[in-house]
Amino acid sequence: MTRFLSTLILTGACASLVLSCGGGDSGVSAAAKAKGEEIFATVCSTCHGKSGLGDGPGAAALDPKPRNYTDKEWQASVTDQHIKDIIVQGGAAMGLSTGMPAHPQFANDPEALDGLVWKVRSFAR
Ligand code: HEC
Repeated sequence: MTRFLSTLILTGACASLVLSCGGGDSGVSAAAKAKGEEIFATVCSTCHGKSGLGDGPGAAALDPKPRNYTDKEWQASVTDQHIKDIIVQGGAAMGLSTGMPAHPQFANDPEALDGLVWKVRSFAR
């Protein structure tokens, strides 16, 4: 009986731990995810589109077009660090188009960068 009870308590503790860690789908905190959502909606979706297809209103005049985030092959080809670098430094610094602006305001904000990587990755999940 004691054993049964402690198993029960342990199971409950684990379940609430997973929930408080954001559903256990990644190591990204709930606060970082919220930040990523907000920045993406206000800054990035202008070009990248709300669905990450690269079809935001600001993309019409761009050539090349912003990356289609739902492309799983592209997702597999880039590291999280590459995504963070291009967000902060912009396309030109990474040998890509100047159409992707630099965002130096996030250079010292790891929570924002983790949230943005999580958001960018979420379109292909
Ligand atoms: C003014 C339009 C514009 C805005 C705003 C913008 N981007 Fe981009 N982004 C682009 C374009 C254009 C490309 C394609 C560059 C290329 O392929 O040469 C791109 C490419 C990217 C890539 C792919 C890099 C690669 O290796 O293919 C990532 C990741 C990215 N942007 C993230 C973001 C995030 C996150 C934000 C918001 C903080 C953002 N961008 C804001 C236009 C924009």
